Amino acid sequence: MKKDQIILGIETSCDETAASVVKNGTEILSNVVASQIESHKRFGGVVPEIASRHHVEQITLVIEEAIEQAGVQYGDIDGIAVTEGPGLVGALLIGVNAAKAVAFAHNIPLIGVHHIAGHIYANRLIKEMVFPALSLVVSGGHTELVLLEAHGKFRVIGETRDDAAGEAYDKVARTLNLPYPGGPHIDRLAHEGQPTIRLPRAWLEGSYDFSFSGLKSAVINTLHNAEQRGEEIEPANLAASFQQSVIEVLVKKTLQATAEYNVKQVLLAGGVAANKGLRAALSEAFADLPNVELVIPPLNLCTDNAAMIAAAGSVLYERGKRSNLALNGNPGLDIEA
Ligand code: KG4
Ligand code: ZN
Repeated sequence: MKKDQIILGIETSCDETAASVVKNGTEILSNVVASQIESHKRFGGVVPEIASRHHVEQITLVIEEAIEQAGVQYGDIDGIAVTEGPGLVGALLIGVNAAKAVAFAHNIPLIGVHHIAGHIYANRLIKEMVFPALSLVVSGGHTELVLLEAHGKFRVIGETRDDAAGEAYDKVARTLNLPYPGGPHIDRLAHEGQPTIRLPRAWLEGSYDFSFSGLKSAVINTLHNAEQRGEEIEPANLAASFQQSVIEVLVKKTLQATAEYNVKQVLLAGGVAANKGLRAALSEAFADLPNVELVIPPLNLCTDNAAMIAAAGSVLYERGKRSNLALNGNPGLDIEA
């Protein structure tokens, strides 16, 4: 019988310090996340220097906690998968250096992982992958349609030309004086209102690219114009209208790409995948396509975590990928490389 594969995942690319132990690429033995959101809230966004400092304080504790909760010893670990990029360089460096230290001290192979590959592989913790698969990646930093022809083979067929979906959510939330991160607040508010305000949709016909900056500006202009005229705009209706515009474009482009590439599975990924409206709209749209399986991870696997990094690292480990101790944080890392 084949020995179980045990991977320790480490993630510090933004504002969560996370470590996790995953068995055979699919089974979570532990998943520890120390969030810094409270520290960044009063600044209305992530402050890179503060993020790095928190990661330094938390990383050792979080790794030890993940190993203890999983009930494994360092000697049981086959590989250490760490987010190499993209992300905040100072934040990435803390995870990468911690991973290198543990790898060196215990003589465990080290594997650099792309953060978005991690978000996509969060789905493998729920369902085995079937190829070709298409992932709709919607996070704070990325909005992409990624085609997977096999494990670890990523092709970006469309991406945002300006703001990421999450970024647009956070900026719109800020103009409505909602706390950071704004996505969940807009989501909640959207369900209390009606999409009564006309807002644009950037279809960018003939491409799978996205654009959200025009929509964001339209929301801000709508608010300012109303203010100047002394009119009141119901924030819930504005949130509902904004959310409808984002979701319509995401769902339509995902459906188009699903048909064009004959995909068997659609994988929702990234922090905005936690959006209730998006989850419901995709579920409804794919209910009509019995030959395509839609996979939507639970909320705790949509936002940043290390189980997803371990899951992506597991596949790379099987394929023999090893990073050496010169591994560095790489904010511009390419998922197709
Ligand atoms: O993937 P993630 O945790 O971090 C990055 O890798 O960027 O995504 C964070 C983003 C933030 O912009 C946050 O506002 C958004 O995900 N988000 C949501 C929801 N929950 C988190 N956006 C819309 N609706 C939500 N329920
Ligand atoms: Zn992320």
